[in-house]
Amino acid sequence: MTEYFRSPKKRGRIAVFLSGRGSNFLAIYEAVKAGKINGDIVLVFSNKKEARGLQLAQERGLETLYLNPKEFPSREAYDEQVAAEVKKRKVDLICLAGYMRILTPGFCEEFKYRMMNIHPALLPAFPGLHVQKKALEWGVRYSGATVHFVTPEVDMGPIILQAVVPVKQDDTEETLSDRILQEEHRIYPEAVRLYFEGRLEVRGRRVFILE
Ligand code: GRF
Repeated sequence: MTEYFRSPKKRGRIAVFLSGRGSNFLAIYEAVKAGKINGDIVLVFSNKKEARGLQLAQERGLETLYLNPKEFPSREAYDEQVAAEVKKRKVDLICLAGYMRILTPGFCEEFKYRMMNIHPALLPAFPGLHVQKKALEWGVRYSGATVHFVTPEVDMGPIILQAVVPVKQDDTEETLSDRILQEEHRIYPEAVRLYFEGRLEVRGRRVFILE
């Protein structure tokens, strides 16, 4: 049977998961604040106590949560606790924004089509880590950013939005990453906006944007 899903048109409850600097979280936060997204960030979660993004969220008066992976006997146990925290807050959509921990298949299944990720390359090219460096090494002329739904296979879920970033001859990993990041900050809030406007429709592995 072909997969089918249509995103809900409603005021959404959003959780952001992050492990680091949190610039994509901030982009979503600003879009929410500006009324561009029909939703509220109800939780900012991290697996890293010192994540800058957690601090930024606290400063903005958002609810934050950190769970220490070392206090759990297994990856499954950790993700079960995370899932419980998410469900407790009646979250409609999880936005992974630099969440550097692989999620268990069970967690991905539970939040199927209710979890997005942002990746700094044009998937399915360059999944994984250090992808801006890999793009430079390959000599590709274009890279970019991808927002996709999360499935158990890392970085391989249905693609929601992409933005193309031309690679310049004198680019370094840093300069290319910076230009890609600008595009990330544009398309991630846009994908969340479309989601709660009820305009994302998944058919098979294609995502259609409804008028
Ligand atoms: C971004 O490049 C994102 O594409 C990747 O991790 C980085 C997170 O950056 N998944 P930030 O924490 O949002 O600033």
